[in-house]
Amino acid sequence: MSQLKEKIRHLANTYSTDFIAIRHHLHAYPELSYQEFETSRFIRNKLDEFGIPYSVLAQTGVVGLIEGKNPGKKVIALRADIDALPILEENNVPYKSTREGIMHACGHDVHTTCLLGAAKILQQLRNEWEGTIKLIFQPGEERNPGGASLLIKEGVLTNPAPQAIFGLHVHPQLEIGKLSFRGGQVMASADEIYITIKGKGGHAAAPHLTTDTILIASELIVSLQQIISRNKNPFLPSVLSICSIQGGHTTNVIPSEVKLMGTFRALDEEWRFKAHELIRQQATGLVQSMGAGIDLHIDVGYPSVYNNEALSAVARQYAEEYMGKDKIETTEVRMGAEDFGYYTQHIPGCFYRLGVMNVAKGITSGVHTPTFNIDESAIETGMGMMAWLGTSTDGF
Ligand code: NI
Repeated sequence: MSQLKEKIRHLANTYSTDFIAIRHHLHAYPELSYQEFETSRFIRNKLDEFGIPYSVLAQTGVVGLIEGKNPGKKVIALRADIDALPILEENNVPYKSTREGIMHACGHDVHTTCLLGAAKILQQLRNEWEGTIKLIFQPGEERNPGGASLLIKEGVLTNPAPQAIFGLHVHPQLEIGKLSFRGGQVMASADEIYITIKGKGGHAAAPHLTTDTILIASELIVSLQQIISRNKNPFLPSVLSICSIQGGHTTNVIPSEVKLMGTFRALDEEWRFKAHELIRQQATGLVQSMGAGIDLHIDVGYPSVYNNEALSAVARQYAEEYMGKDKIETTEVRMGAEDFGYYTQHIPGCFYRLGVMNVAKGITSGVHTPTFNIDESAIETGMGMMAWLGTSTDGF
């Protein structure tokens, strides 16, 4: 067992330069969600080169299969997302994005690279570990409905059905050389709220002849916060933010329409859908009681990410063995969202974080910013650790 770990560590070190070059390529040629055609082709070419069979799902998703010894013993899925964001890169690096306005600003180029690296290692050592590894290169993480939901619809969790799934995300607030894990709820669900308040506009000097949609919108924004402060269990984190209010365009006309947009986030799936009902009731009741009409739409987005407790404990233990105990931290809970949550609704999953921050080198920018980057020594850690987790046998 520990011999296998050493072999993985050695190969990760041997191949790290090659895979940093792969990351540079992916970084220079980013593609937006569901348009990852070249990225998908690049991944397939690499799998061909490694001798790993694969199939294509949801147009740009790639699902590879590596059989170890006794392939029926267990099936473990390893997942990487492959899409980029509509952001103009501001880093001055030789591998800067060549596509104006598109950037791997969430590190999915790194995730893809680490999974390709793990694939090469696992394929090379396939006579030394047991079971089957399913490699999931997933499109469309950054945009609804989420590539994970499409792949699941197309059968990614069947034939063969994985018993567990691991996924990693780069973490620019975690020091290079570290990883973090946590069991239980780790990330929030994210739903979008769209409200239109419709009334009779008119002259601002004669409000009694109008339905004041601006006033109603103001009351509604304040009132909706009471769902969070009064209806929510204080022990369940949840956030409602109205982030856009659009209505009117001058000083003396009450508009006939005001539009609100916002986001609702929760860690608890039961509360999540109860809150949707409360938002609907509260908004409809208040707006109608003030004499206006309302259109309300809640666009249901990604579910919360639930890390299976037992699996996360096993993963953490594997990480401690691989990295040393002092390199492993506990992930903090975040209200951000990840479509990895779709997998964890079906099978035990563990979504963990890879430290990429290097203060001395000035690498500290957050994800989704134009200056996001990583300390690339994280790639050796990321690919080795992912391979090592793929060989885990405990907890199944
Ligand atoms: Ni991301």
